[in-house]
Amino acid sequence: MRILLTGAAGFIGGHIRSQALARGHDVVALDAYLPQAHGTGGAYDSSIHRIDLRHDPLDEVLDGIDVVCHQAAMVGNGVDAQDLPDYAEHNDAGTARLLAAMSRAGGRDLVLASSMVVYGDGRYTCPVDGDVPPAVRREDDLAAGRFDPRCPVCGGEITWREIGEDTPFLPRTSYAASKVAQEHYAGAWCTLDDARTVALRYHNVYGPGMPADTPYAGVAAIFRSAIARGEAPQVFEDGQQVRDFVHVSDVARANVLAIERVAVHPPGLTPYNIASGHPFTIGEMARVLAGAADGAPPELTGDYRRFDVRHVVASPRAATEGLGFTAEIAPEVGLAQLATDPLRRR
Ligand code: UD1
Repeated sequence: MRILLTGAAGFIGGHIRSQALARGHDVVALDAYLPQAHGTGGAYDSSIHRIDLRHDPLDEVLDGIDVVCHQAAMVGNGVDAQDLPDYAEHNDAGTARLLAAMSRAGGRDLVLASSMVVYGDGRYTCPVDGDVPPAVRREDDLAAGRFDPRCPVCGGEITWREIGEDTPFLPRTSYAASKVAQEHYAGAWCTLDDARTVALRYHNVYGPGMPADTPYAGVAAIFRSAIARGEAPQVFEDGQQVRDFVHVSDVARANVLAIERVAVHPPGLTPYNIASGHPFTIGEMARVLAGAADGAPPELTGDYRRFDVRHVVASPRAATEGLGFTAEIAPEVGLAQLATDPLRRR
């Protein structure tokens, strides 16, 4: 197949490119080389077209393409409200331009990088009120070390549950809003052009080549960078926050499967959670990483960031049924390897 891969110089895009080439696909690679991700040093790979989706011509690179795999995006959660225009322009206006160009080129198949952040705070079960989104955590609870959210109806204790793809959107950050908008734009394009999109909602992706600590980095990069500096990972709250850490080689394989199978999906947007299926606490994750690096043991700080999501865990079942995807690398194995995996410097 001839694939157009955007974000090809990025962490996930680079792994997709290698796996797609190894499967015998022809890959046309694009990247805008954003300074936030790649610095300004100018070390560009000449086999990757330097194209910014916001304003560069796209018709030529789309010629003869079977499937577009769209990974290019500003990532992270956004630092403050000043980031909003950048997320909107890169992630949403860029995607809208790409879709318009696909329409002109007669393209009908898209694989879109989405994220579990579209679910915001996740879903919980209340013994009294049933399936509920959690209430926003109160400052007085957090200050007193009560980190678990409460039921939005009765204020009682609730327990997290695995979420499926039908969970309502609840975007809380600039990045999350931009990912929801990308899915909506792709859905609208599907309706207009009778086209197909497979949206892969990644959980916490980690592995070799992940960017070193930046203001936009997630916890795995932050802990890995602390270990590289000989420092102890600083674990917030009580370390019991639950996430799903999924290895980048599994995420790349999910993309290649989606590329190969998007055309057998019905018209419209089909979302899949991409997760390891092995929930892990942040405290356990810090212990595995620090232990494998033989570094200083993690420190439980009790600090908190009020708008952090407490627990979010996806069901990976739909991806197994629809794509034949099951993660192969268990977090305890992959996270131990991350202790010595190379990070990407800008
Ligand atoms: C992360 C990404 C998000 C991505 C999502 C799914 C960032 C900032 N967040 O969201 O963009 O879409 O995964 O892949 O890139 N923590 C510590 N110590 C630290 C930093 C964080 O204990 O030094 C804790 C936080 O309190 C939180 C957890 O680690 O409970 C995860 O934090 P983080 O990785 O920033 O955000 P996610 O919500 O997982």
